[in-house]
Amino acid sequence: MAYIGDDMPHKFVVEGGARLQGAVTVSGSKNAALPMMAAALLAKGPTVLRNVPDLTDVHLMAEILETLGCEVTLFAEPGVVVIDVVDETPIHAPYELVSEMRASFCVMGPLLARRGEAHVSQPGGCTLGERPVDLHIKGIQAIGCEVTFQRGDVIAKGRPTGGRVYLGGPMGPSVTGTANVLCAAVMGSGVTVIDQAACEPEIANLVAMLNSMGARVHGGGTSRLVVQGVDELHPADIAVIPDRIEAGTLMIASAITRGDVTLEHCDPDVMLALFDKFTEMRVPFERVDATTVRINCPKRARSADLTTLPYPGFPTDLQSPLMALLCTSEGYSLVEEKIYPERFMHVPEYRRLGADIRKQFNTCIVTGVEKLSGAPVAATDLRAGAGLILMGLVAEGATEVLRIQHVDRGYDRFEDKLTALGGSIRRVEYLPRRRASDRNSQRNRAA
Ligand code: EPU
Repeated sequence: MAYIGDDMPHKFVVEGGARLQGAVTVSGSKNAALPMMAAALLAKGPTVLRNVPDLTDVHLMAEILETLGCEVTLFAEPGVVVIDVVDETPIHAPYELVSEMRASFCVMGPLLARRGEAHVSQPGGCTLGERPVDLHIKGIQAIGCEVTFQRGDVIAKGRPTGGRVYLGGPMGPSVTGTANVLCAAVMGSGVTVIDQAACEPEIANLVAMLNSMGARVHGGGTSRLVVQGVDELHPADIAVIPDRIEAGTLMIASAITRGDVTLEHCDPDVMLALFDKFTEMRVPFERVDATTVRINCPKRARSADLTTLPYPGFPTDLQSPLMALLCTSEGYSLVEEKIYPERFMHVPEYRRLGADIRKQFNTCIVTGVEKLSGAPVAATDLRAGAGLILMGLVAEGATEVLRIQHVDRGYDRFEDKLTALGGSIRRVEYLPRRRASDRNSQRNRAA
């Protein structure tokens, strides 16, 4: 990936007007790949992960694993990441790295299971809201480990002995919390039962990986996981599932541009909530075969109400991309965010492009407009960045999307994929305007 460590910020310049057409291959899932990379810590030796997306978050997780005694080879072959665990003594994941990416908290479970101790910096809030880790901690305590807090680190100690874990929180089960507790529970002699486990396909992918390493986990993809601890695990060689959020975003890109796009290498079976919305919105879709979907949408979509929920409900990660489509659809839509009540930071940016959105607490009313007009806007998180790009594809004139480092965290070669489908999107360097305080201090130094 060209943009890692590149200090010069970039922006996307998107020209509206093109109808997307053609075929596109969906990449591997970010949210499956990250906990699976962390799970490699469970066995000494080289774990091979295939179909890994080339994203800044993956590079960052590699960096964290390197501080934890791994040699990581990224993309020597396309999609292949090799994580060789060579030194099993480090136990500390520091703030500088964890604060960059919340998913890095997923190293806690594997470290605990294999090394008996983990010091992981407590992640702070983020653009999606507060995002606590209390469920992770409660689960780890419930299987017999001691958890303390010191200088911003969560310190977990002890070999998990099994137990009953309940992972239901006020917003549903926690996805990475499930991954963490599951990975902590796979080694040792105890039996762990996790109720209200996350049912996301990414967790099922992790369970498949763990079982391929010799773990004994039953119920992957359901709300009850039963784990019989084992003494030893061996390295895995396994593929990451296709990214259902990237696939959904590209499907929505086809619909918003009234395009005709065929998505290859996706898993339509895990996208039923989006298809349900498409049916309501009169967005035609065709399941061509088990891994291929075509979205051929010559007409303006109709509005639909939306509530985000844990899987198999409508994913919060597609809320802002679908809202982009609702902004140009016919009629009114109600959008209710039940996973991250504050995940509406993009609304003021969408309005800058001409969207008509009213917001109160965790709900928005979107009135579809016939036209959007290009403007400079900023990505507030990675899915919001994608939504802005989709709106730019249909807005009149040019839309400049700033803070695209968010998009690079979660979409593999997004602009290349859109360009190949006929969209006009360019990545350009730009010099951010200096803040007045910087200019003043420079002036003072010169004086
Ligand atoms: N929550 C708690 N306590 C906890 C953990 C979570 O109250 O200990 C709450 C959260 O504040 C939130 C809800 O539970 O309201 C769900 O959070 P969850 O823990 O499931 O989120 P996560 O595991 O941190 C993953 C994805 C997110 C995705 C969410 C929800 C990864 C690496 N990240 O986060 O992905 O939005 O699940 O599906 O898997 C993205 O890809 O853009 C992204 C943000």
